[in-house]
This record gives sequence, C-alpha cells and structure tokens, in this order.
Amino acid sequence: MATAWRYVRLAGVFAAILCSRTEAQDPETNYDESRVPSYTLPDPLVCNDGTPVADEAVWRTRRRPEILAMFEEHVYGRAPGKPESLTFEERSIARDALGGKAVRKEVRIMVGQGDKTLPIDLLLYLPAEAKKPVPVFLGLNFYGNHTVNADPGITLSSAWMRSRSEKGVVDNRATEKSRGASSQLWAIDDILARGYGLATVYYGDIDPDFDDDFQNGVHPLFYKPGQTKPAPDEWGSIAAWAWGLSRVMDYLETDKLVDSKRVAVMGHSRLGKTALWAGATDQRFALVISNNSGCGGAALSRREFGETVRRINTSFPHWFCDNFVRYNDRVPDLPVDQHMLIALAAPRPVYVASASEDLWADPRGEFLAAKGADPVYRLLGTDGLAAEEMPAAEQPVTSRIGYHLRSGKHSVTEYDWQRYLDFADKHLAP
Ligand code: GCU
Repeated sequence: MATAWRYVRLAGVFAAILCSRTEAQDPETNYDESRVPSYTLPDPLVCNDGTPVADEAVWRTRRRPEILAMFEEHVYGRAPGKPESLTFEERSIARDALGGKAVRKEVRIMVGQGDKTLPIDLLLYLPAEAKKPVPVFLGLNFYGNHTVNADPGITLSSAWMRSRSEKGVVDNRATEKSRGASSQLWAIDDILARGYGLATVYYGDIDPDFDDDFQNGVHPLFYKPGQTKPAPDEWGSIAAWAWGLSRVMDYLETDKLVDSKRVAVMGHSRLGKTALWAGATDQRFALVISNNSGCGGAALSRREFGETVRRINTSFPHWFCDNFVRYNDRVPDLPVDQHMLIALAAPRPVYVASASEDLWADPRGEFLAAKGADPVYRLLGTDGLAAEEMPAAEQPVTSRIGYHLRSGKHSVTEYDWQRYLDFADKHLAP
C-alpha cells in the first residue's frame, strides 16, 4: 500500500473521531479500503454497441454524446436549452473597488420563459490594471455574493438561504454580519494579482437548496402545461445550478472586459459536482475545477467508500434526477461512473482536488476517477494524468488532467487556489 494512502487512512481515523459532519460518523459508512467491493468500470472508449473508440472522430460524434446522454438520463437529468428570453442589466460598476485593485460589477441576469422570470445576480471582479480582456474563474457561492469579500459595495443578497449564525444568516436571510463571511474561500487578491477575474453567483438564486419538490427556483419556469415537477429523467438541482452557470457564460460572452474563451468553471463540494456537470454540458468552459466534490462529483460511485449513492439520494433527494434512485442498491448496474464525467471535459484541462481528511468525499476514488479519464485524454492527443499512483499530499500533478491531495479538511484554501492559478497559467495561456 502506498505511503500516501496509509497517511490518508490514518488521517481518516482522526477524521472519523473528530469530524463534526454527522454523516461521517454513520457506522454504515465504509472507510476501510479493504472493504471496497471489487468492481469493473464501464470503458469510456467502447461504445454501447461494443464498437471501440478508435479515433477522435468516433469519440466526438458517437461516444461522447452517448455518455452525456447516459448521465442526463440516469444521474443529473436533462436540462432545457436557452430560455426564451435572457437580458442583462448592469446594476452597479465601481472602477476603484478593493483599494483600487479591481473593477467591481454587478449584473442582473434575467431569465424569462413564458410569463415567468427569474433573476440571477452576478458579481464580477476584474483586475483594474488590465489592458485587454481577462480570463475569469467562475464559481457559484453558498451564502450570497456579499460573503465572498467584506467589500461594502457588494449588494447584500435578499434571497432565501440556510440559516447559519456563523455566516450571519438569521431566519433564512443574510444580515450585515454576513459580509465577507466566506472570504477565506475566495482568494480574490491572488486571483486579481495574477491577472484573472472572478465571477460569482449565489447558487440559491438559481434553485434554493432544499427539497420542496421543485416548486421554487428555475424548474417551474419550464413546466409544460399541467406539469408540477420534473419527470424522472429531468433536471434536479445540480443540473439546474449547472444550467445557471451556462447563463452566466451567456453574459460573459457579451462583456468586453472578459476573455470568454478563457473561462474556468470552479466549484467546491456540491458545487464541485456542479462545476463538473457544467463543464460536461457546456464546452464553452475552457477549464474545469472540482474541489472536494466527492460522491456524484469526481469520486467513483462503485467504490462505495465514504458517501454512497444511496446515502446522497436519501440526504439530498433533490440534487439528482429521480432515475438515479434506482441505483441506490445496485450501483454496479449504473451505465456510467464518474471517471466518464471527468472524461466529458476532454481534451480541455480539468483539475480534481482532494483533501486528506475529507474521507467522506473519498480522495482515492477522486484520484482513480481522474485516472480513469486518462485514456480519453490520451486518445485526444494530450498527456492525460501524468501520475501512475496517487500522489502524496502537496505533490500536485499538473498534466492536462491535474490532481492534488491537500492535507487537511473539506474546504477550499489558499493552497488550492494557488494550484488552480498555476494550472490556469499553464493551460489557459492565450
Ligand atoms: C454533504 C454532502 C456532500 C456534499 C457536501 C457539501 O456533506 O454529503 O455530497 O459535497 O455536503 O456540498 O458541502
């Protein structure tokens, strides 16, 4: 057994004892590598009718669409295309934000379908010094745009959000205290200093993250007459959040300060799952980053290590489409596994990041999924994932599929952002 993995397991013992995430203490949760069932992954390079994917053309015209359709039908659910109307309203602009370092813009993206509308509020920081359009990191946030920085110029979100006193959310509404409450998750100074912009949206603007049978958020805009909830193969919340990221991309394509050919979509945890799905469904995203995305994200479902398909469908019944529930007790029958999700980003650069104490997200399963996408990347002429074994902590791999294991807990840290910036410098250069 690799030394790195021994370290991860040791860290896991502590994590299981200390971790405040209740799910991590569930006695049914497997954290024992020797109890991982033996499994065979579906081959991303063999079509469903048995035809081998011999070249790029077969991948592009047959196998990729086939894999995408299977994820839509069985995992995330089909999302609609562009809405009937989409308008962008610049609500504020400051050219001297963050002590003169940034241009700050707030844009309301208004989605319209039939007689219904949904506002999505975008916050954009761009380096003030930029002489030409800049590449941008786009990521959804958990508690409102005003939490990513203490900048008093950011409009306080008035949307519903989960109550959490340490984030300054009381009775499901943000208070002034929540300004900057998540700033440690967003390395805005580093992002700007290295010539990138940051675009962010509160994910609850697109669909509030609780199970209400899809009565609020974007889903009802698209119901057919008489329809009251998505069909079993139609979009859950993750697919809706990813759809929202594509609408932000629609806007970014119109912003002359942004180089929309160089937008990296990034997300942490459930929003890391979302970033991967957005990168799969919308190839305008030039780079895809999954931070600690775990089950339903970068981790292989067949390993059943940490969070399982059954567990995630039970705790979060609204995240995936209803068809996914069928696989709760028969994961090996899933026609896909998550290495194929990563492969849908190919040949664009994709980065998978794990944290050593985040066993709930199965760091090794995340690495193995990245590895499982490697043959597709190689077929398309890239260096794939240039690591045979799971690397030790703080040993980033920076090939076209990037990977690192960071020491510590489930989070996004300065270390993670530095690696993403290095990776973008290497792979997104104009
Ligand atoms: C829970 C859930 C994970 C998810 C995480 C998060 O822990 O089980 O699947 O990634 O929340 O989004 O923070």
